[in-house]
Amino acid sequence: MRAGAAAAPIGSITSADRPIGVFDSGVGGLSVLRALRAELPQEDFVYFADSGNAPYGERDDAFVAQRSQAIAQQLREEHGIKALVVACNTATAAAVHLLRAGHPGLPLVGVEPALKPAAARSRTRRIAVLATRGTLASAKFAALHASLRDEAEFLLQPCDGLAAAIEADDATKIRALCEEYTRASGRFGSKNGQIDSLVLGCTHYPFAANHFAELAGPEVALIETGEPVARQTRRLLGAAGLLRTQGVGSITLQASAGQAALHATATRWLGR
Ligand code: DGL
Repeated sequence: MRAGAAAAPIGSITSADRPIGVFDSGVGGLSVLRALRAELPQEDFVYFADSGNAPYGERDDAFVAQRSQAIAQQLREEHGIKALVVACNTATAAAVHLLRAGHPGLPLVGVEPALKPAAARSRTRRIAVLATRGTLASAKFAALHASLRDEAEFLLQPCDGLAAAIEADDATKIRALCEEYTRASGRFGSKNGQIDSLVLGCTHYPFAANHFAELAGPEVALIETGEPVARQTRRLLGAAGLLRTQGVGSITLQASAGQAALHATATRWLGR
């Protein structure tokens, strides 16, 4: 990890050499950063974990929107970011429209639960969607769900406490909550009437993927959003002429609390 790059004035998204900002309520967005690094190895990233205010998923929209706007502003002022990835389903649902309005011209990518890819691959047409309460209650998610209602049956499961348990690295609680929410979703498998696809609709949940894979069984596909988000980021940067084409990228990590824990988790999950 290195110290932050010198800041560029806000509003000047002119150089491919500026870093890409990525944020989440905590460590969950590292699952997206992992995919971004694989897709864009030449880019510099500044990752901000709002761990002092996590979890977002059980808070109200106004709070999540206010934090998202403050973080975007900070990333632009301190780091002169050339693009922003909102690596949090809950923050995307609550604030992506406000961020777009407040930062016109800044390439911006959000994440949403991968209902479309799940509908495209499911054979049984029964799909479990695990996400935070905030994401599942949002108007943005309701619109996505409504647009795909004819494609498959989506079984929506809010997972209170799971992001917080992952944030706290509480292995016992993570396992217990994965068991509870997998069981509550229904019967998994590849036969008619069974759930054959499980959407990890919160960026924290890929860090519990081993539990979900074991509990749902080998016939069930776990679907997350890191790779499509990384490809979309590449497309937007390319279209804006802001892709970095040489060099080896870096990662700068910042947190509103628990900086040491963020570094430890990044070391574990990003192989750093
Ligand atoms: N990782 C986040 C998401 O994708 C938020 C989890 C939380 O803070 O509750 O929704």
